[in-house]
Amino acid sequence: MKPVGIIGLGHYVPQKVLTNKDMEKMVDTSDEWITTRTGIKERHIASKYEAASDLAINAAQEALKDAGIKPESLELIICATVTGDMPFPSVSCLVQKAIGAQNAACFDISAACAGYVYGLITAKQFVASGTYKNVLVIGTEKLTSVVDWQDRNTCVLFGDGAGACVVAPVKEGGILSTCLGSDGSMGGLLMIPAGGSRNPATHETVDEKMHYIKMRGNELFKLAVKIMADAANSALKQAGLDCKDVDCFIPHQANIRILLAVAKRLGLDTERIFMNIEKYGNMSSASTAVAFYEAVKSGRVKKGDIVVLDAFGAGLVWGACVIKW
Ligand code: UT7
Repeated sequence: MKPVGIIGLGHYVPQKVLTNKDMEKMVDTSDEWITTRTGIKERHIASKYEAASDLAINAAQEALKDAGIKPESLELIICATVTGDMPFPSVSCLVQKAIGAQNAACFDISAACAGYVYGLITAKQFVASGTYKNVLVIGTEKLTSVVDWQDRNTCVLFGDGAGACVVAPVKEGGILSTCLGSDGSMGGLLMIPAGGSRNPATHETVDEKMHYIKMRGNELFKLAVKIMADAANSALKQAGLDCKDVDCFIPHQANIRILLAVAKRLGLDTERIFMNIEKYGNMSSASTAVAFYEAVKSGRVKKGDIVVLDAFGAGLVWGACVIKW
């Protein structure tokens, strides 16, 4: 297999910021509770005129510029999202049109918070097999469109944003190993019950708030810690590496206490974990994408570093990959 890596990165977060202090005025919560229980201080909120594709387009354009390639050279666009503009067309098709990537095939991935890692690993297969040379992967979410703003258990956790990368053949390094997994039996822990073919939108589903995120946070917490640690270990083992070889661990940003517990389980000191949850909250598929972008662009990840991306979310689904930058 030819080496496959990331040749460009982009991101976008909406301008408007909602702080914990702002949230105190909306529900019975406190900056102190949110900070200590989750690590979140603020989150970015898309306006009513911005949908998931608008965030994605900005991230995609930056990734293409960073890669130094034209939109026409893209052969595939994979977009990971659970908050697409509409059931169809897909967000990837909307992005294709907006950026002028007329030669690209397009599809979306539904793998919740692990969507970006699922997308990256899928893209890798297309490039490694020689089917395509340039694949754009995007994680984009407008989670604030599916949040119940009266439910303090969930509304303080989520934010909006997008991250993107271009996957292509590289001379050396790149994506060294990957791990994907799912457990559908635990699907009830995190879901949006209505809006699909099971419970199409009716006055009743709206009145009963069935179009919003429902989460059993406590149960998910424990599973997230174990599963993310196992996924990282499995990908590292496959690459013939150990936790001590990891220079930068970039996990899905769901809760700072989850990240610290995963790191502890892996035997990683805090300095090696990349965390930006404070600024954005949980942006589902966009979380790992934006964290990856910031880790590289801030200089935290240097050439030759071993990076681990690790994500977990509704489904349940999870994925990890080891990258030599
Ligand atoms: O992204 C993919 C997957 N997502 C996750 O993995 C999320 C995993 N779960 C979590 O991050 C945490 O479970 C939460 C942050 C969601 C909740 O933290 P917790 O420490 O597990 O709190 P809890 O649910 O056990 O609730 C503790 C208390 C409750 O009060 P009582 O029943 O003990 O009186 C809640 O009502 O905290 C209360 N509470 C709040 N209080 C103030 C819950 N939300 C809030 C809030 N402000 N926003």
